[in-house]
Amino acid sequence: MARPKIALIGAGQIGGTLAHLAALKELGDVILLDLNDGAAKGKALDIAEAGPSEGFDAAMSGTSDYADIAGADVCIVTAGVARKPGMSRDDLLGINLKVMKSVGEGIKAHAPDAFVICITNPLDAMVWALQQFSGLPTEKVVGMAGVLDSARFRHFLAEEFGVSMKDVTAFVLGGHGDTMVPSVRYSTVGGIPLPDLVEMGWTTQDKLDAIVQRTRDGGAEIVGLLKTGSAFYAPATSAIEMAESYLKDQKRVLPCAAYCDGQFGLDGFYVGVPTVIGAAGIERVIDIKMSKEEQVMFDKSVEAVKGLVAACKEIDSNLV
Ligand code: APR
Repeated sequence: MARPKIALIGAGQIGGTLAHLAALKELGDVILLDLNDGAAKGKALDIAEAGPSEGFDAAMSGTSDYADIAGADVCIVTAGVARKPGMSRDDLLGINLKVMKSVGEGIKAHAPDAFVICITNPLDAMVWALQQFSGLPTEKVVGMAGVLDSARFRHFLAEEFGVSMKDVTAFVLGGHGDTMVPSVRYSTVGGIPLPDLVEMGWTTQDKLDAIVQRTRDGGAEIVGLLKTGSAFYAPATSAIEMAESYLKDQKRVLPCAAYCDGQFGLDGFYVGVPTVIGAAGIERVIDIKMSKEEQVMFDKSVEAVKGLVAACKEIDSNLV
């Protein structure tokens, strides 16, 4: 059986890391596509040359021509502009909306059967626009945010409790922005919910609140440190986790920016929710019960996403 074909649209910091991880995990043959043909080809060749030492069998190539992604099984989209210090994800909206249009049209023409994972920010609005521009079914177009935000939350919790991150589970809901909702009730250490751990004296409510806030600011913290770009190792790892679940039909339960039509009381919006990812794409959106407090925060987050979607519609009247 031929290896799966993975098209990475955008060969910048995240794109290159995605290619390296896909190769190391032998998920399939990788094609990097970028306006900057040299960056795509150069990174592909560099990673291919790591193959003999690492021992992976995966073809690596680079291009700036969408015809070369023909028949891709997975497309991961990072094309666009990344945040600079002082810029919010939303500042990127106008620039990256135009990029989503060209990417969506390229996928529609050459890889209409792919599972598409969008990473470009502002995420919830960009994945919504990408689905429309590509015309692919909503269950085949998803945004990567929740896996990353949850991973950040899990990392901070594991550090606080001095336990393995393997035993920390966490959910972050809502939009991938300052209003995201790290769910304390549904996050656990060895199955014990965080509020119980506060009661047990493992941490204090103040410390937990600070971790929640640090999770919300997780992207900005990295931007502030790097000064010349945004996070790329953890975002790429998160998207690869999603791609692997699709390609291997693992049916992982992963929080993603998924299309909600009825679930969570939403009609036709992409927002961060727990999902099941398998061979059919987003096979299920898990419509969990929220506390009153969580619902208020989630609604606020959804309003922020709706604002971005409205701004997209104003820029491009073809979007509905
Ligand atoms: N088509 C193809 N590639 C494009 C296009 C386009 N229309 N516009 C820009 N690119 C390419 C750039 O040439 C660059 O190589 O997208 C790449 C983006 O890479 P980086 O600037 O290194 O950004 P990165 O850190 O990879 O982040 C990409 O993900 O997390 C989000 O906010 C982040 O939106 C940003 C995206």
